[in-house]
Amino acid sequence: MRAVGFDVNGGPEVLRPVRLPVPEPGPGQILIRVAYAGVNHGEMQQRLGDFGAPDGIQVPGLEVSGEVAALGPDVTGLACGDPVAAYLPDGGGYAEYAVAPAAFAYPLDGISLRDGGGAALALTTAYGVLAGAARLTPGDTVLIHAAAGGVGSAAAQIARALGAAAVHGTVSSAAKADYAKRFGYDAVHLRDGFAAHISDVDIVLDPIGGPVRQTSLAVLAPFGRLAVYGEAARRPDLTLPVLTFRRHNRTLAGYDITDLATRAPTLVRSHALSALSLLASGAIRLDISTELPLSAAAEAHETLQAGLNVGKTLLRVT
Ligand SMILES: NC(=O)c1ccc[n+]([C@@H]2O[C@H](COP(=O)([O-])OP(=O)(O)OC[C@H]3O[C@@H](n4cnc5c(N)ncnc54)[C@H](OP(=O)(O)O)[C@@H]3O)[C@@H](O)[C@H]2O)c1
Repeated sequence: MRAVGFDVNGGPEVLRPVRLPVPEPGPGQILIRVAYAGVNHGEMQQRLGDFGAPDGIQVPGLEVSGEVAALGPDVTGLACGDPVAAYLPDGGGYAEYAVAPAAFAYPLDGISLRDGGGAALALTTAYGVLAGAARLTPGDTVLIHAAAGGVGSAAAQIARALGAAAVHGTVSSAAKADYAKRFGYDAVHLRDGFAAHISDVDIVLDPIGGPVRQTSLAVLAPFGRLAVYGEAARRPDLTLPVLTFRRHNRTLAGYDITDLATRAPTLVRSHALSALSLLASGAIRLDISTELPLSAAAEAHETLQAGLNVGKTLLRVT
């Protein structure tokens, strides 16, 4: 089968077309004939080497949509030909065929394969951070960093659907602030100096890290939650004195889908199904800003690495 992979860490140029055997689904797994693969920040980090050096060809791709092509032993509830969106904890989505845990394959009822391609990681994460880590309750005020991106654009709409009273965002440029307005934000601020524009926030979603994380603590309302779920700035970890959390009634929460997939897979599935039902009902929409052929995966990574992407980027596979 055709795939795109890399065997050395590096820039977007290390991504190259490869030919690989079609994988076989093991117990509890399904084989998917991939229609679309979502492009995610985590795949860029994998390519850069943040998760270690490759041992042979690595095929990135944490979320796909497509049709079920084969079932592994003991898999029930799905049939060959079913359209699904799937989260692939071990990657492999930039390929004509990919193996997914059946537990993370979600039937696409009333959702197109195109929308499904950007849903299983980005929407699940947005829902999980808000409802799971940050414990959003109706009436909360929410601040979302990287507001125009894949997870951010979905999180703004999900926050609103879950009853947030006000949703603010931050971005790196005026052009992105303009773009993000379509996601229903009450206001979108430039990230530089954002604390001058907002305070007393119940929930901050932070996939950036570094000084943004430090400043985000200062804008929390009493009992506010800072939910950290990414390190896009690739800055060193913060050292935070615990006592300041007590003194300012602050809470720090974390979200990591890889850990959840291992220790609480039913939570991942439940967050995914809740988010997909919002998508199917039209309460939220997926902003697919860019669709490229699989062979242009390096181009998609270039844009992501430059921080120039908005919404979701999809690779069209078959
Ligand atoms: N914890 C989890 O389980 C989990 C799961 C999925 C995703 N994530 C995290 O969620 C975040 C969003 O993921 P995504 O795939 O939807 O990406 P994305 O938001 O579409 O793109 C990443 C955004 O991060 C911002 N950014 C800040 N510093 C950057 C830098 N040095 N280089 C590149 N971008 C930078 C940019 O927005 P601005 O231009 O507005 O700065 C950029 O658009 C990422 O941090 C990712 O690691 C975490």
